[in-house]
Amino acid sequence: MLALGCDHGGFELMQEVKLHLEDRGFEYKDFGCYSTTSVDYPKFAKKVAHAVAEGECEFGILICGTGIGISIAANKVKGIRAALCSDCFSAQATREHNDANILAMGARTIGPGLALKIVDTFLDTPFSNDERHIRRINMIED
Ligand code: RB5
Repeated sequence: MLALGCDHGGFELMQEVKLHLEDRGFEYKDFGCYSTTSVDYPKFAKKVAHAVAEGECEFGILICGTGIGISIAANKVKGIRAALCSDCFSAQATREHNDANILAMGARTIGPGLALKIVDTFLDTPFSNDERHIRRINMIED
């Protein structure tokens, strides 16, 4: 189960992401927002972050205008490793090295074609389980 959240800046891209996830057979919970009316991104970041941190959802996807504010807010929740990605290399590396549990993207910084490739890369890449990466992740949590 995936947790999805966005603000007004990310709403339109999130509709494309949802269609793509449905095509791929992923189930998701949509924590909003639900229109392009202006909203406050921390509210949606926290909802998705808590759903992931508490185990209700395995991964989250967050989208705002830049992806910056919504990832900063998500990373305030203990156990969350939200990675802002605007390229596939980063999406792969953050799963392999950081075991990122939330993907954040900026709808105003990347196009929808790239965004969907980033989503695929993030969801299809397992954590490496390398000892050095586990050690570093544990140091983040300390
Ligand atoms: C909203 O205008 C915008 O500030 C938000 O989507 C995001 O870019 C914040 O980091």
